[in-house]
This record gives sequence, C-alpha cells and structure tokens, in this order.
Amino acid sequence: MLQFSPGTWRDTGGVPVETRRKTARERWEEAYSKSPERDAEFSTISGIPVKPLYTPEDLGHFDYEEKLGYPGEYPYTRGVYPTMYRGRLWTIRQFAGYGDAEETNKRFRYLLEQGQTGLSVAFDMPTLMGLDSDSPLSLGEVGIEGVAIDSLEDMERLFEGIPMDEITTSMTINAPAMVLLAMYVVAAEKKGIPPEKLGGTNQNDILKEYIAQKEWIYPPGPSMRIFKDMLVYCTRHMPKWNTVSISGYHIREAGSTAVQELAFTLSDGFAYVDAGIEAGLEVDEFAPRFSFFFNSHIDFFEEIAKFRAARRIWANVMKEKYGAKDPRSLRLRFHTQTAGVSLTAQEPYNNIARTAFEALAAILGGTQSLHTNSFDEALALPTEEAVRIAVRTQQIAALETGVTNTIDPLGGSYFVEWLTDEMERQAHEYFRQIEELGGVIPAIEQGFQMREIAEASARYQRELEEGRRHMVNVNIYEPREEQDVEIHRVPPEVGERQVRRLKELKRRRDNRLVRQRLAELKRAAQGNENTMYPILECVRAYATVQEICDTLKEVFGTYRETPVI
Ligand code: 3HC
Repeated sequence: MLQFSPGTWRDTGGVPVETRRKTARERWEEAYSKSPERDAEFSTISGIPVKPLYTPEDLGHFDYEEKLGYPGEYPYTRGVYPTMYRGRLWTIRQFAGYGDAEETNKRFRYLLEQGQTGLSVAFDMPTLMGLDSDSPLSLGEVGIEGVAIDSLEDMERLFEGIPMDEITTSMTINAPAMVLLAMYVVAAEKKGIPPEKLGGTNQNDILKEYIAQKEWIYPPGPSMRIFKDMLVYCTRHMPKWNTVSISGYHIREAGSTAVQELAFTLSDGFAYVDAGIEAGLEVDEFAPRFSFFFNSHIDFFEEIAKFRAARRIWANVMKEKYGAKDPRSLRLRFHTQTAGVSLTAQEPYNNIARTAFEALAAILGGTQSLHTNSFDEALALPTEEAVRIAVRTQQIAALETGVTNTIDPLGGSYFVEWLTDEMERQAHEYFRQIEELGGVIPAIEQGFQMREIAEASARYQRELEEGRRHMVNVNIYEPREEQDVEIHRVPPEVGERQVRRLKELKRRRDNRLVRQRLAELKRAAQGNENTMYPILECVRAYATVQEICDTLKEVFGTYRETPVI
C-alpha cells in the first residue's frame, strides 16, 4: 500500500503548515489520510505503483506539441492517421485456421460473412516449424492448432473463391515465412494477380521467437540473412505488403510486464531497421511497411499508455537516430490481440467480459487492426458461436459505445499522460541495458530478455498465489463445477486426409524439376544471392514447405538455445 503523509507531495518552503492557509490539495491530502484505504494492491499488473490521484503537478512542464502533437503527425502519440476511426474503423481481423485448407477456407468465409474486414492465417505447428504433414514429427499435430499447409496446392485451396487483390491477409509465420509468402504470391499469380497488388502482412519476426515463442529453425545470423532477402524482395515487388509484424504479443504471453513487451518489441524493431540498412536499403524505402503486433492485457490504463508510448518512442528514434524523413517511416501502425493468458478455463463465459475490456483498451489506444479472443480459447480453438461473439464484441465497441467519435479520448488525462511518460522512461532504460550487452542478438544469446520475462512471470504468479492479485473464479469466488461449453475438435481423419493428399502430390508432380529447383536454392543460399527468387521457383514446382526449409538447413544449420537459469 502506498505510504504518504499530508503535504509530502509539496515542499512547504519551511513555512510551518499550521500558519499557512491550507491549499486545496493539502485539504484533500488531509481528508484522504483520514479515510482508511482498502487493503489492496494499488499498482498496475506490471508492478508500477499507482497513486490515488494525478494532477497537473504530476506532469511537470507538459508541452502539448512536443509530447502529444496531433493525430497523423509527429510524434503520433494520439494516433497515426489525422482522422483515425472517424475516417476508417480498425480492421476486424480474427486469427483463424485449423484442419486442412478447405476447413479453414470455410471459416474464413464465415468470418467475412459476419462482417470481418481482414484475414489472418493461423498455421498448424508442423507448418510453423517447417515440417510437412507426413513428417514423423508432425504426427498428432496436423491441422490441430492451425491450418496444415504443405505446398502451393494447399495455399490455392485456402484462398479458393477469396478475392486476394481486395482483402488484406496476415500470415502468422516466422521461420518459414519466405516459403509461405512465396506460396501466397504464386497462388495469386495463378489467379492473374501480380505481387504489386497484394496487401497484407507476414509476421516474419524471428527475434521474438528466440525471446518468447521458440518457433525458430535456423541460428540468428542466417535468420537475419533470410529476413533481409525477404525485405529486399517485398520492397522491390510488393509495395502494399507489410514486411514484418514486430510482435510483443508472444513476449507478453510468455509473462513479461507491459514495459518489457514495449521495450523488447521496439528494440527488435530497431534491429530490423539495422538489418534493412545493412541490406543496402534506404530507411525510407522499407520502414513505411514495418508494422507491429501488441497484446492488450487486462490492466486497462497500462495498456492504453503502452500503445501511446510505443508510437512516440518509435517516432522519436526513427527520426532522431535513423534520420527517417518519410512520415510513414515514423508512424507505428499495429495489430492487437486481446490477452490469451488472461482467459480462464473456469467459468469461461467470464472471458467475454475480459475480452471486451481488453478490446476497449486497444481501441482507446489507437489500434489499426484487432483480434478479440473467443471466450472458449482457454479450452480449445474457438467454435463458430464463440468466434461470432468475439466479432460482435468489436462491432458493439465500434458502433454502439461512441468511443470512435473522437480521437484519443483519454489524451490529456493526468494519469494516462503520466503513465505514458513513465512507460516511455522505463522502456528507454531497457534500451540502454540492451545496448550495453551489445545489442538485441547478443542480449538474446546471453538470455537477458528471457531472464527478465521469467522473473516478471514468477512475480505475477506469486502475487496470484498470495491473493494480492485477483482472477475472478480462479483465486476469488468459487467457480461452478461443471462447465457447459461446447468444445471445437479437429477430427483425426482431417490429418490423415492431408497426409494422403501430400503423398499423392509428391507422386504426381515433376520430381526432377523439384530436385533441380531445390539445388538452385541451395546454391543461392551458399552464395549471396537473394533466396526469395529460387524459393518462388521451388514453390512453382510444388516443392513442399519441409523440402525447402530442409534445403536451407543444409546450408544454415539449426539453432540450439542455451537455456536460461
Ligand atoms: N484515414 C486514412 N487512411 C486510413 C485510415 C484513416 N483514418 N485508417 C486506415 N487507413 C488506410 C491505411 O493508410 C491503409 O492504406 P494503405 O495500405 O494504402 O497504407 C488502409 O487504410 C488499411 O489501414 P491499415 O494499414 O492501418 O490497416 P490494416 O488492417 O490493413 O493493417 C497493420 C494493419 C497492423 C498495418 C497490418 O500489419 C496488419 O494487418 N497486421 C495484422 C497482423 C496480425 O493479424 N497478426 C496476427 C498474429 S496472431 C499470432 O501471432 C499468434 C498468437 O495468437 C499466439
């Protein structure tokens, strides 16, 4: 509990308090100190102590133009577009995928019928790890937590009947990102749509995989080479494609604080800017197509402050350190997903409320694109019923609550501005520590980010177990025993069908051509050629995800993590 005594917030200049006319503030402090506080933890979920009241005194010298500016202008604190949601609502973009391409194509269509305005592909674990469905390591995982994509044929099925030149598609793929991007490009090409017309995003953020999600294949050095190859290809051929979605989501889901999510994500972003410059590109050539992906956790004001601080930090560093001139290089556009870790298996319908609060924080924080978790996602992939409620949650926020009527409505709040400043300050402290360790990759190799996250996660868990932090129906208010919730299940025959189809493809295709294309890719990887072009040729020959990834493994090897203790 915050300890203070009357007047401690002000220097009385030595004049005895009883002889001075009490100021309004001192009267309030005196009255406040006479009323007992509840026995509760008054701090953000990340541990930032929260005072009972914030006033202009907490902001000190507050220069509006320098600190906030106007929406769509440097430093973008209040938003990246001049009109924000008055001009265009955020994109409703639900992460979706399971089973085989047909199953997911049906879910995509269902979501679009419900009013979703962008697509987001969830791949199954084998695809995420660069494995084919018929790999022994894929047994039991095919199509389970995402859609199984083995070859161009699956990608064509996935987007059957979907206008790829009209919809923007996000693909959550990292280590094999080039391969899935190539499949998306060639699937569109076969519909007569050139790469220039394709809008969307590859997550393609390998650094957060080493830090948090752990879905890597190659060591950091080769991974950054692959990143550069893709960045150069997209910068040259895909002007509407967001080349990377620099992600804090998984860092937060791994147990980080909001400040760690902010700091580690932005420092990853600066490392990708460095990579783009090392690849010979001008910062304004590629930075406009960088994008971000954040978590919106349950601490309402902390999340809003985090988003606002993120925009200001990115704008400041891109302008001051990298000399970016194009305003589009300075604006941090981001997607948000509500916090998976905040969902509970107990009384799952409560998660509808949690997700609504978290979505509201993302909206008041100025997100460009939003995924609202379904209430059953602590139990399984969402049912159609659950995903529909998740979409409706966004539509109610957008169309009923009035929160889109004005831009950055919490801007100017003494608490929100103080918290925005405080998170910005703490993030810069982490930037300094990472610089001292030699940069992002050396810090990763020393386990710095992982250790910080592990300690934060353990602290939060202790607070829950000691009852200093609450989760309703988990550590306060007993949940009901039975949970009458329908569970989405992927039948095992879906995986069996996928394996059969893959074997049939490998029989039917021109295997001599596949071998030739893979050999060309290997030579490109061994040299300094951009590997994206030979990967496109491999995809056109119907080489599979694993055949392509394994060819690169022969050149780059694989990564073994040094566990953090
Ligand atoms: N005024 C004028 N123009 C506006 C506007 C306004 N108010 N609002 C938007 N626009 C324009 C934009 O300029 C843009 O035009 P452009 O493409 O020509 O520049 C267009 O309208 C679309 O707007 P945005 O680009 O802001 O919105 P998008 O939705 O297209 O893109 C993004 C958002 C964040 C930039 C993009 O990178 C994106 O969609 N990211 C999504 C990432 C994602 O879905 N990730 C899922 C990960 S799930 C995961 O990792 C697994 C986890 O669950 C475990």
